[in-house]
Amino acid sequence: MAMSHMMTAIQIKEPGGPDVLQPVDWPVPVPGHGQIVIRVAWAGVNRPDALQRAGLYAPPPSASPLPGLEASGTVAAVGPGVTRWREGDQVCALLPGGGYAEYVVTHGDHALPVPAGLSLREAACLPETCFTVWSNVFLRGGLKAGERFLVHGGSSGIGTTAIQMARAMGARVFTTAGSDEKCEACMALGAERAINYREEDFVAALRAEGGANLILDMVGGSYLPRNVRALADDGRLVQIAFLTGPKVELNFAEVMTRRLTITGSTLRPQGDLAKAAYARDLETHVWPLIERGALRPVMDSEYALADAAKAHWRIESSGHIGKIVLRVEGG
Ligand SMILES: NC(=O)c1ccc[n+]([C@@H]2O[C@H](COP(=O)([O-])OP(=O)(O)OC[C@H]3O[C@@H](n4cnc5c(N)ncnc54)[C@H](OP(=O)(O)O)[C@@H]3O)[C@@H](O)[C@H]2O)c1
Repeated sequence: MAMSHMMTAIQIKEPGGPDVLQPVDWPVPVPGHGQIVIRVAWAGVNRPDALQRAGLYAPPPSASPLPGLEASGTVAAVGPGVTRWREGDQVCALLPGGGYAEYVVTHGDHALPVPAGLSLREAACLPETCFTVWSNVFLRGGLKAGERFLVHGGSSGIGTTAIQMARAMGARVFTTAGSDEKCEACMALGAERAINYREEDFVAALRAEGGANLILDMVGGSYLPRNVRALADDGRLVQIAFLTGPKVELNFAEVMTRRLTITGSTLRPQGDLAKAAYARDLETHVWPLIERGALRPVMDSEYALADAAKAHWRIESSGHIGKIVLRVEGG
């Protein structure tokens, strides 16, 4: 089918609240060397999209200014040097940006097949959280079977993925969330213990278990010294965001005497080769877990592409459990 030159996309008209997300006519991208263009069926909505919209998370210079870090759909065009994909293949992919649109371009090696048994709607929710959790929890954090793993924000897109992936790999999973309903959802996903952080101190709960061997944190701020206290000797803290701010006073004596590691990363600025390596790892180690039902995206809600602002109101309300998606093709 011939592609037209223009498409509907959602642009960030200016930095601000959700209502700055507005439909716009935008040129259909053309694939360069090693790239594919995907006709988007569904686009995942992630907290970093909301940060970008608010002007707090600038896209890398080479990326589309349009929001959207993950999508599923059908390969519509293939650039020179791409051997794996053909027009018509169904894929889900990590994107440098631009997912809130009818077509998006990405590196061919950052796309993955839709796992058997999953719909395109579910597959759109995999890339951003799976790449992030795999690279931070297993590669950077080195989580092993039998270890005690604490993930904050257990009901988030990242949290629901981390709980299931860590459980499937044989870790003991502890998590925090902001309501009893969210805690119950986390337990249903395989957490051994879900702590309502508004009512209970997660530091005491983890220390009673001997401390966490690994913590994945997105909260930051006052959680930094508390995370250090919640770690077991030789424990590792992996920071992936700072929802309450990146600055805090921290006594590093404990880091030294208890041989702790504090590290972190952000996915988006990493190079094409690093992301391609994560994609290969995911296909080898994680896609089989999905195909045998040990890991499934938790779906919160869906919105039409034109209602992207509503999706951002939803994610910023923190009322959601799991993932929010935009319906693009036919939406
Ligand atoms: N480093 C990376 O490469 C990378 C990649 C993707 C995402 N991230 C980050 O990972 C986090 C999760 O992303 P997501 O897309 O899964 O977002 P999300 O679903 O919106 O999750 C954020 C969750 O954090 C909790 N939260 C919000 N404000 C909080 C606060 N002040 N204190 C404690 N908890 C709070 C909320 O649950 P409660 O109701 O339980 O508080 C909320 O569900 C975001 O911060 C995002 O920026 C990082």
